[in-house]
Amino acid sequence: MTTSEAAQVELTKSFVKKTLEHAEGGHDWFHTLRVFNNSMLISKNENVDVFVVALGALLHDIADSKFHDGDESVGPQKARTFLFGINTDSAVIEHVVKIIENISFKGGNEVQKFKSPELDVIQDADRLDALGAIGIARTFNYGGFKNRKLFDPSIRPNLHMTKQAYKASTAPTINHFYEKLLRLKDLMNTKTAHKIALKRHQFMEQFLEQFYAEWDGEK
Ligand code: ADP
Ligand code: NI
Repeated sequence: MTTSEAAQVELTKSFVKKTLEHAEGGHDWFHTLRVFNNSMLISKNENVDVFVVALGALLHDIADSKFHDGDESVGPQKARTFLFGINTDSAVIEHVVKIIENISFKGGNEVQKFKSPELDVIQDADRLDALGAIGIARTFNYGGFKNRKLFDPSIRPNLHMTKQAYKASTAPTINHFYEKLLRLKDLMNTKTAHKIALKRHQFMEQFLEQFYAEWDGEK
């Protein structure tokens, strides 16, 4: 990165930290920072523009539609306005906006309209943060935020939801493991992330096994 690019990354960090001050615990500045750090780690093994990866990682959850009445245009617009204001190169701005528009899982049955090696890296880093101990913590925090049940054996997971159904779902939090989290290891774009995902996946399987054992009571 050039000195000017590094300065833009610093300004972006401050902007995101301030904007996400009151965000839900699983989508706050620390989530963004973990995604940023893992994006930088994965980038070492990929042929990518690190400046684009840095900005995309930092801005990917600047205004998640889940917290904006489902409006998917707020995040990309916020990012565009901010980057324009700090004089980021216009081609970089367009790429970052496309990354933010296309990073989300949305039930896993949507066709992703845009692809780039930079998006691949950030998407992997974002998905890694949905896995393992952190993934479990974030998922139950989100479920609590939405006042969902922990688990209800009578409500089965639904793996074939449309994007609309996925977004509108009020299913118990355990169902999210089957509807998204356990599917992520096979959706990683890079080898580096796939390897880390396998470890985190195994930890979640272990967690679920223990959860069900405790649910049924000690024997
Ligand atoms: P999307 O699934 O639309 O891509 P995110 O990637 O922002 O949304 O989801 C991030 C994290 O938020 C998930 O990995 C999970 O921890 C939590 N989360 C999102 N939707 C749910 C849900 N329906 N139930 C429980 N946790 C959820
Ligand atoms: Ni995210």
